[in-house]
This record gives sequence, structure tokens and C-alpha cells, in this order.
Amino acid sequence: MSWTARLLTLFPEMFPGPLGHSLAGRALARGQWTLEAIDIRDHATGRHRSVDDAPFGGGAGMVMRPDVIDAAAEAAALSGAPLIVLTPRGRPLTQARVASLAAGPGVVLLCGRYEGIDQRVIEARSMEELSIGDYVLSGGEPAAMVLLDAVVRLLPGVMGAEESGEEESFSSGLLEYPHYTRPALWKGRAVPEVLLGGNHAAIAEWRQAEAERITRERRPDLWAAWQALADAAPTA
Ligand code: ADE
Repeated sequence: MSWTARLLTLFPEMFPGPLGHSLAGRALARGQWTLEAIDIRDHATGRHRSVDDAPFGGGAGMVMRPDVIDAAAEAAALSGAPLIVLTPRGRPLTQARVASLAAGPGVVLLCGRYEGIDQRVIEARSMEELSIGDYVLSGGEPAAMVLLDAVVRLLPGVMGAEESGEEESFSSGLLEYPHYTRPALWKGRAVPEVLLGGNHAAIAEWRQAEAERITRERRPDLWAAWQALADAAPTA
């Protein structure tokens, strides 16, 4: 069976959306991964089929009901796959977590809406809470698409050797060096001389220096982590 993503959402029609195009879309069409969007509302009971209610303790917005989410999660359970809820309150999603998900059988993703999800069902189902960044989306759906895009490109056979992720940002701990193509002179801007010379050692050295400079300037957090690693293993 191919790598499977099951989505629990109030907006199943949002999928596959962007994931139906480009690299992820071609992989989906080839059967290299499977996407199943499950409507949370199908698991609501009662006359009004309500999926949410007012928060205990008061406050703005609505909270997704634990019984409804539990029933949807039960129906979506995928053997060996984690149940992940996308929320700005989660731990940050990392390339390492993306790679570990790609190595498994799949994932069940719960897309939150409204103000949140009743905490008890998050705990009862041992959900992993993940955030894609320090900003607030109106719902978890775009975050789920981001996570899946990042995972699918790592699945075996999805990226050609050409697009291989070996040298890209984060896998080395540094941001990637800049890229250039023809024309060599464009609007008065020249491509860095070293890249035109064919001296592969010099090119590798320049790229490493640029990766380090860009990381130091833009991401002091990544730079500190990379330096700590380099200090621990000076030959790396
Ligand atoms: N839902 C709303 N904002 C989010 C974020 N930043 N990450 C993941 N899920 C979200």
C-alpha cells in the first residue's frame, strides 16, 4: 500500500487543492501516495449535527466537540501512523519530523477550525500537536497541505535524482547558498566569478561560505545550533 494521508476536516472539498498539481500531484496520479479527506461532520450525531460548542469558562469563538472528533479519529485510524493536529499551539514542524513521517506508513491529520479543539480528546488520542510557524491561519487545512507537500517530495521515487534534496536548506543545518543561471550578465549584474571558472573545489568552498553567511545573517538560531555541532565534531 502506498504512503497514506487521511485528513479530518470540515472542508474536505479543499483537497487535494494545490496537492493535486506539480510534484505532489504527479505523485498522487502515479499512486505513489494516497489522499483521503474525511468530513468531520459525517461523525456528528444529534438533531443538529453540531461539531462545535461554546467554550466552558466563556470567551470568544467555538470549540470542536471531543465526542465528534473522537468518532472521526476512530474512523480514520491508520495502523502505525501518528495522529497529528495542526495548531499554532503545537511544537514547530521540522525537516527531521517531515523525514520521519516520510519513512512511515502515513499520517492522520486533524485540521482544527474555530478557536480550538477540546483538550481532552487531544490527550485521550495522544495526538501530536504541530505548528508550521509563528503566525495564525484561519484553519489547519493550509498547514496540513504544507506538511504533506514537504513529506511527499521525500517519498521514494517522487523526486528525480535531478531534484535530489541532498544539498538543500535544513538537511545540512544551514540555509542553502544562492543559485545563478544564464545570462551571465543581466541588467548590469554579473554572476559571481568563481561559478564561471570550473574550479569545483573553489565553487564548493564559495557555496559553503555563502551558506554560512546567509544562515548567520538570517537565522541566528540555526547558526548557533550549527556552530555547536561543528564544535562537537570539528571535521564535519
Ligand atoms: N492552524 C492555524 N494556524 C496554524 C499554524 N501556524 N500552524 C499549524 N496549524 C495552524
